[in-house]
Amino acid sequence: MTAAASARSTPVFGAVHLGYVVIQTERFPAWRRFGSDAIGLHVDELDRDAMRFRMDDRACRFLLRRGPAEDLVAAGWQVDDHETFDEILSRVTGRGVPVSEGSAEECALRGVERLWRFPGPKGISTEIFTRAVTTPAPLRMLNSAFVTGAAGMGHLAITTKHPEQLRGYYDTVFDARITDFIDENVSGLTLKIRFLRVNERHHSIAVANVNGIAVDPVRTSIQHMNIQVETLDDLLASFERVTRLGFAMAWSVGQHTNDRELSYYCVTPSGFELEVGWNPVVITPELESTWDPSTYQGISVWGHTPVGETVVTKMAQFRRALRSLREREAVVAGLGGEAR
Ligand SMILES: [Fe+2]
Repeated sequence: MTAAASARSTPVFGAVHLGYVVIQTERFPAWRRFGSDAIGLHVDELDRDAMRFRMDDRACRFLLRRGPAEDLVAAGWQVDDHETFDEILSRVTGRGVPVSEGSAEECALRGVERLWRFPGPKGISTEIFTRAVTTPAPLRMLNSAFVTGAAGMGHLAITTKHPEQLRGYYDTVFDARITDFIDENVSGLTLKIRFLRVNERHHSIAVANVNGIAVDPVRTSIQHMNIQVETLDDLLASFERVTRLGFAMAWSVGQHTNDRELSYYCVTPSGFELEVGWNPVVITPELESTWDPSTYQGISVWGHTPVGETVVTKMAQFRRALRSLREREAVVAGLGGEAR
């Protein structure tokens, strides 16, 4: 724990869980097919401009809204109790960052009773809520189950030119702790990844940057998001469906060095990637009490072979990285861990 965190009145670590995401897209038919037929999520089509995916008894885990961004635009974080909720809001407002309450319509779409929102890194709105709407309606899914609960619905991986700012943001707002680091060599450059946890999930946020150069090779706010299936059969069957239905695979099945999760990465209709994973390390209270961050060399123990990577896609990524040198990345002044 940092000195700044220990000085806070109410610790919030462990009481925060990724609850839902909001995606803005024009590609509803593709997302419907991707979400339900390939990944195996439950789909509810609300109207022409709103579609939801369910993974469990929650009314909403993914909200898709019509719009031009083709990106993940908001992350909804569930907070366990009102004391924690007030603590987070006071940290944000106390640093001069504006907070606004979501409208009744926004809450209904996201399946929460009430929500408050404030700016987040890379234009991803942070939304916090305490109570989610559940539904008795049966799940029509191709997977046996997804792992959510105390670990939240998965994780977000973000590429950035300002890794310390992002790390500081999630520390300031959610008391995020560093789980570990990965250094990966990419074409002679070192990609540094910081894995941050806010509960028993090994990481709810991963922050990646190219060491020594302020470039961001990714167009979207996140490089990927991760969801976790219950069984190995779920993982392999969904991998087969994604491939058979013709959706782009980014990395085939492999195992990560740090959280030991088995996973594959496919490309969503909006362009960012979805990692479907199984069986990552859980940081139990016993592990938590003695956890010491280490640094791993390389992302994978085995597998995660790039699929369909060509000279053309490599060049496009290189051009995008060069362009990012001139672009300003949205940072949240005041919540960047200025105390560290
Ligand atoms: Fe991941």
